[in-house]
Amino acid sequence: MAHAPGIDRRRLGELTERELTRFAAERPRSTELLERARASMPQGVPNGWMTELFGHDPLWIDRGEGPYLFDVDGHRLLDTNIADTSMFCGYSLEPVVKAVSERIALGPQFLMPTEDAIVVAEELARRWALPKWRFTLSATTANTEAIRVARHLTGRPKLLMFEGKYHGHADEMLVTREDGALKPEMLGLLPRVVDDVRLIPFNDLETLERALAPGDVACVVTEPALTNVGVVLPDDGFHAELRRLTREAGTLLVIDETHTLICGPGGLTRVWGLEPDVISLGKSIGAGVPIGAYGMTEEVAAALEPVADYGGGDFVPEVATGGTLFGNPLQMASARAALTEVLTDEAYERASRLGARVADGIEAAAASGGLPWKAHRLGPRAGYGFDGRLPRTSTDAHAAHDAELYRFLRLWMVNRGVWEAMEWAGPAISVAATDTDVDHYVETLGSLVEELVA
Ligand SMILES: Cc1ncc(COP(=O)(O)O)c(C=O)c1O
Repeated sequence: MAHAPGIDRRRLGELTERELTRFAAERPRSTELLERARASMPQGVPNGWMTELFGHDPLWIDRGEGPYLFDVDGHRLLDTNIADTSMFCGYSLEPVVKAVSERIALGPQFLMPTEDAIVVAEELARRWALPKWRFTLSATTANTEAIRVARHLTGRPKLLMFEGKYHGHADEMLVTREDGALKPEMLGLLPRVVDDVRLIPFNDLETLERALAPGDVACVVTEPALTNVGVVLPDDGFHAELRRLTREAGTLLVIDETHTLICGPGGLTRVWGLEPDVISLGKSIGAGVPIGAYGMTEEVAAALEPVADYGGGDFVPEVATGGTLFGNPLQMASARAALTEVLTDEAYERASRLGARVADGIEAAAASGGLPWKAHRLGPRAGYGFDGRLPRTSTDAHAAHDAELYRFLRLWMVNRGVWEAMEWAGPAISVAATDTDVDHYVETLGSLVEELVA
């Protein structure tokens, strides 16, 4: 693990201990709930991420309101994690509350469509310039289905991704490179999950060309900019070459905008003029109601039309897609309200302006303490480059990542009313936040730097 320059490690350790003690002391109700929960749930939480991602005991939440969370001990927190971007809309926004409440009252699920689905698909088609859309329950399942469609259409086995990626918790997407060899990234995965995966460095076009050359890659799946290892931006010309090479190789290009969709209506695909065959989405388009979606060209969509009369038997001549609650009316009601009433052009512009203010504030606060930090900038999202550089690859990002410093930063912020982004993400501004909230963030960070370098 890297140690950021200019930080006295002993002081960092002492301050971290002090903040941990304060965190626990000010949260008796959270502590009580955790103790009770440990009897009925592993780690005392319904989803391991709710404790693993944060570097301290889980915070139990009472409610959200606009850009804020309220924990069960009565603290109000400005939310800059926004549930890993999934709450970009902010909390309790009237159009979403109304649409979801009405839909629950009228029936949230029939395994049959409602008109909202058409509005959502039309709106996504307008924003991402891809005509046809399918819905799932998460971005993971959207990517899973997109990969299956690509394999079926191309008749090829291989999935190519870039190091530092994250596209969800499906077996083949959880592959990493260690000492030159591909390996499952976590426990519970079979060694053979690597067999049909190629994993290469981001921004490395020569390796990409070589990896596509055998003609066996069904699809490349990538984010426009990597966002799960800090932020790694593409080099100038990277996307144009990626598109040219994938077309030449007969490989489909799947752009995963699950995180980057907060950068504008149509995400970075629209901002950068990308031309994917498939776009995958999730998280914030549901405004908190689980959703995944993938959009595709007419040629790709043809794979999802019936191919033959199904005469029964064990083999079903369809691409393996679908699930009982995929495309359910509740998610469609929520997504319709989010897309048509909350995630407006003006809302994206404001959030990006505020995100840039956070990034400026990070650099100014660090400079005032003589620290070299550089801020990531990605629309409403900022982030920390503790070594004063912005990475070009995931290797650069790992070399600059100071987990101990980030843990201290999170504790300092939460003890002073800011729910900082989880490790490897960066603070992101929801459309419900204001300039006053950004002032609060930047001032709190300023006090941290002062204390750290004192
Ligand atoms: C780029 C990207 N794709 C897909 C996913 C998977 O999303 P979900 O956990 O909602 O399935 C994530 C989650 O962080 C992500 O960052």
